[in-house]
Amino acid sequence: MDKMIIRGGNPLKGSVHVRGAKNAALPLMAASILAETPLTLHNVPCLHDVFSMDKLLSFMGVHSEFTGRYMVMDSAGVVNPEAPYELVRKMRASFFVLGPLVARFGRARVSLPGGCAIGTRPVDIHLKGLEALGCDISLDEGYVVAEGKLTGASFTLDFPSVGATETLMMAATRAEGLTRLYNVAREPEIEDLALCLNAMGAQISGAGSDMITVVGVDNLKGVEHEVIPDRIEAGTFLIAGVATHGDVTVLNARADHLPGFLEKLQEIGAEVEVRQDRIRAAAVNGYSATDITTRPYPGFPTDLQAQTMALLTCAEGASLIKETVFENRFMQVAELNRMGADIDVDGSTALVRGVSGLMGAPVMASDLRASAALVIAGLMAPQGETAVQRVYHIDRGYERIEERLAALGANIERRRN
Ligand code: EPZ
Repeated sequence: MDKMIIRGGNPLKGSVHVRGAKNAALPLMAASILAETPLTLHNVPCLHDVFSMDKLLSFMGVHSEFTGRYMVMDSAGVVNPEAPYELVRKMRASFFVLGPLVARFGRARVSLPGGCAIGTRPVDIHLKGLEALGCDISLDEGYVVAEGKLTGASFTLDFPSVGATETLMMAATRAEGLTRLYNVAREPEIEDLALCLNAMGAQISGAGSDMITVVGVDNLKGVEHEVIPDRIEAGTFLIAGVATHGDVTVLNARADHLPGFLEKLQEIGAEVEVRQDRIRAAAVNGYSATDITTRPYPGFPTDLQAQTMALLTCAEGASLIKETVFENRFMQVAELNRMGADIDVDGSTALVRGVSGLMGAPVMASDLRASAALVIAGLMAPQGETAVQRVYHIDRGYERIEERLAALGANIERRRN
């Protein structure tokens, strides 16, 4: 397994291009199942999670070609509406194929995703919503078996789940009649998926608000669609710039996709400059503490919590971080404390007391965003060397991150074990 070797202390300076959004590309790839003709996605990021979804779609019979920037998917050949455990367990987003499969073929057999490092991550809202649309749901040896002709209905989500919103919105495109979904997620990735589905012939309105209306149609056709920029990758690079007392600009990034986050950067004293398609953040003179509570969009994104915690380990003062979206998303704390941070966790709240500096150390990545936090901490540590083990976690969501950080002045290299 590869590891990242980092010698910190260099302020990151310069510009970096943001890639297409992983959390938009994955549901959009699943939406190819709904298209009777090929769907082409542009600006697809080269990530392990994208390869995993591509492998799952191919297993079902979708023919795909990926050039490393755009992907063409033809689902005419789907003969096997089944997603096996060995593929789904590797990536929870595989579960997003359930809605499109049952909408197009009237049946699907998809493995339950199981939990992961950040929580049990149930799919009860996905299943309750599909039942409301007339689907018969049963469990068989760890698999969800879904069957039935979908009919429009009203359904209120218990929690604004991103995945459940995407599953139900995709399923409703082929349900007969009108569907109203309440208390839905409002993330930009939901809007991007709705934009693509409507171009394919769907009739969706309200995406991005807390209520989505869908009028079912008889079929959907393939189109060309450009994946939105990855707001979490953009935020991660901006945090790295501020945390190293540098000056970083993220190119082709959308500030309107980071409302709750950019305000916090300003609050801690970073200089934040927003232009048409780029965002710059600098903190050459350090920054102060603040309190963070993660919320569904447009609140502070849970996917930037770990990276922001790393940043706040060396802020002036103490910060209180509350994680309200996932039940176990402080996996980075123990490793940050081994690097000299001073963090106490009490349930879903972490108290981060600012220290004067971190020290390099060998650390273990546990999940995608925690591993990004450990890389940032390594970049911050002016003494010693940080070796981040199990970097396959980071490769799931960041393309060639060591090359792109090195281009900003970081002393970082990937070493094959
Ligand atoms: C999506 O995951 C993202 N993944 C996650 O990004 C992101 O953290 C999350 O949304 C929240 O923004 C993709 O889009 C591929 P949820 P998802 O359903 O859909 C509970 C990353 O780092 N819940 O919004 O799985 C659930 O347990 C990843 O890029 C239920 O209880 O998240 C969690 O506590 C990590 N029942 C909360 O809702 C359900 O049926 C939010 O989960 C579904 C969810």
